[in-house]
Amino acid sequence: ETQILKVNPNSITFSSHQLFPTISDPQSLKNLQLAAHLIKHNKIVGFPTETVYGLGGSSLSDSAVTSIYKAKNRPADNPLITHISSIDQLKRLILSKDNLEIPDIYLPLIQKYWPGPLTILLPVGPNSPISKLTTNGLSTFAVRMPSNPIARALIALSDTPIAAPSANSSTKPSPTLASHVYHDLNNKIPLIIDGGPSNIGLESTVIDGLSTPPVLLRPGGLSVNQIKNINGFENLIIAKPNANSKDPVKTPGMKYKHYSPSAKVSLLYLNKNSINFSQPIQSLSNYLSNNLANNFSTNSSNLALIYQDNILNPNNYSSYFNQTKVLGKDINQMQHNLFALFRELDDIPNINQIIVILDSNIKNNLEAMALLNRLNKAASIKIDL
Ligand code: TXA
Ligand code: MG
Repeated sequence: ETQILKVNPNSITFSSHQLFPTISDPQSLKNLQLAAHLIKHNKIVGFPTETVYGLGGSSLSDSAVTSIYKAKNRPADNPLITHISSIDQLKRLILSKDNLEIPDIYLPLIQKYWPGPLTILLPVGPNSPISKLTTNGLSTFAVRMPSNPIARALIALSDTPIAAPSANSSTKPSPTLASHVYHDLNNKIPLIIDGGPSNIGLESTVIDGLSTPPVLLRPGGLSVNQIKNINGFENLIIAKPNANSKDPVKTPGMKYKHYSPSAKVSLLYLNKNSINFSQPIQSLSNYLSNNLANNFSTNSSNLALIYQDNILNPNNYSSYFNQTKVLGKDINQMQHNLFALFRELDDIPNINQIIVILDSNIKNNLEAMALLNRLNKAASIKIDL
């Protein structure tokens, strides 16, 4: 049985010039010390970050990293992000072994956005202590300094760079609550630190500043505009979304049966201009009735709706759906709620199809890039209404 221990994030003070946190609540300190002890001994621990919960183990240890891949059932060719609590630690524990410095290009970026949801690639030197299993043997390693006080305190107390992918079973939605981690990893890891909900709700932004011009490898909690604002990143290139996000899933039933979310997801973009709001049910209900036979279950008990706030009146649609859930008003709220809603709906018996409806204008909003990236990965059907 996996142990869950609470840590109160408000009991931790970690100002930017401190290398070590001050922890006022004795129980929180004790729980963090236990987690740090496990990390130092190459065991793995679920812990909160401001993006999503991570499954952490020493980035320097083959055995810890092997345990991470195994617990998540993650393909070992997908490298992990190393988490540090201070620049001092990054230099002292990793870069100094090869007399490396942080490349100049990154200095204004990390000055502005660390700690926070920003991951950068740094070169791996010949004497790098980072396990080759963490990087899959690449010539770069990914690193970030999380702003969540619990995450930073755990890294500082263990004084260990922590490799941490999201703490979900591979292909499930990333966890934003300790209970999500428990659901996926109970009995597979010794400990989960419960620090409440993750603020952001989706993963960090991954930037390769070693290429010219710099490349955005994964959209995330830090937006493209925030990065382009920084000296040296004005010409940031957006990496093409990977092939499988474009390809229609060939056998969604097979592919998603036990995956993430288990329900089949359809993403519908509603063009507000084409809707008659005096009879708001028309456009969507026509669409649904025309397509139920082909694409959707005809049984409302199997169907759930997730909609962008203010785009439709849920009362008009309740007869079509077992559940109608609002995703949120603004991008931050929608990012925060998406993965948690997927998991909540997956836990409701019968529901095997989720229809997500967004305002089609959202496609023109750069701030929504990370949200749409995650939705596109989850959805097997995408339609403009
Ligand atoms: O917000 C986050 O980043 C969360 C929390 C726990 O910090 N972690 C996370 O890790 O999302 P993970 O393992 O799910 O995602 C790591 C991403 C992957 O897209 C991986 O391919 C990329 O970072 N990555 C890691 N090392 C890389 C490298 N050397 N070169 C290119 N991409 C790399
Ligand atoms: Mg992940």
